[in-house]
Amino acid sequence: MTSAIDPGLDLFAEIDRLRQQKKAVILAHYYQDPDIQDLADHLGDSLELAKRARDTDAEVILFCGVHFMAETAKILNPKKTVILPDLDAGCSLADACPADQLRAWKAKHPDHFVVMYINCAAATKAESDVICTSSNAEKIIRAVPEGRPILFGPDKNLGAFLMKKTGRKMDLWPGACMVHETFSAMKIAALKAKHPTAKFIAHPDCEDHVLALADYVGSTSKLLEFVQQDASPKYIVGTEANILHTMHKAAPHKELIAVPYEDRTAACQGCNTCPHMKLNTVEKIYLALRDLKPRIEMPEELRVRALKPLQRMLDLS
Ligand code: 13P
Repeated sequence: MTSAIDPGLDLFAEIDRLRQQKKAVILAHYYQDPDIQDLADHLGDSLELAKRARDTDAEVILFCGVHFMAETAKILNPKKTVILPDLDAGCSLADACPADQLRAWKAKHPDHFVVMYINCAAATKAESDVICTSSNAEKIIRAVPEGRPILFGPDKNLGAFLMKKTGRKMDLWPGACMVHETFSAMKIAALKAKHPTAKFIAHPDCEDHVLALADYVGSTSKLLEFVQQDASPKYIVGTEANILHTMHKAAPHKELIAVPYEDRTAACQGCNTCPHMKLNTVEKIYLALRDLKPRIEMPEELRVRALKPLQRMLDLS
């Protein structure tokens, strides 16, 4: 695919020219590679990027994130062209709970209220009562009428964290984030002992025994905010390691340590970074803007069903 690019091209200048010419906005998640974070018009967590996508007056949304994020932008903004540099940029959580499996789970629990993490496909969203992200999940769970049983998915780790936080019992779908699941509690404890002034801050997608070591738990945006506002000189950052790039820029005087992980597979070459996010590259961003593809498309009937629980989330946020 990249062989079609003239090697003499200044891709960053071309991306700037094309984004103006095509009236495009580039949205990027903190888990993207540093170069991509730096060229984005807006950086954010899943909730902030969904709101940016909803509110933009650009004609084209180039989404630098994974498939469910770009799909969310399309659900909220059907008239706009939404492009994702690599359509294969998926998510282990989204893969864990396809719509037909959620339908079967619901059929066994017909009286339950279904709360789904935004990390799922449009067809799964369409089967849900409300969507949440890691930054508004507690609020969303607290808004479910008292006494109504809850099905929560696809992230069992976020679900377990929310049960502790809210005291609400929920049935959890057994999905997990392939990145957050590799973090090693033993290695984190050893790092904490070696750096006694460091705080361990963690994303709620981490496993329970990892969260038990955390001084602070929050979404990517909340972790970024915490590092800027908190007084400690040092942090061990318990989420996808590319966020360290923007954290360094936002708090240059702080020392940041990427979370240590278990090398569970022989091929693991940095298991605290997301292999799906890595599929988006500067070359593919250039091609996507030049050709206005690959596009996110979905049947209108599905979009309308997926919009309902998403809109409910935005109304509650
Ligand atoms: P936030 O963007 O809500 O921080 O979550 C990122 C994510 O997808 C974690 O797996």
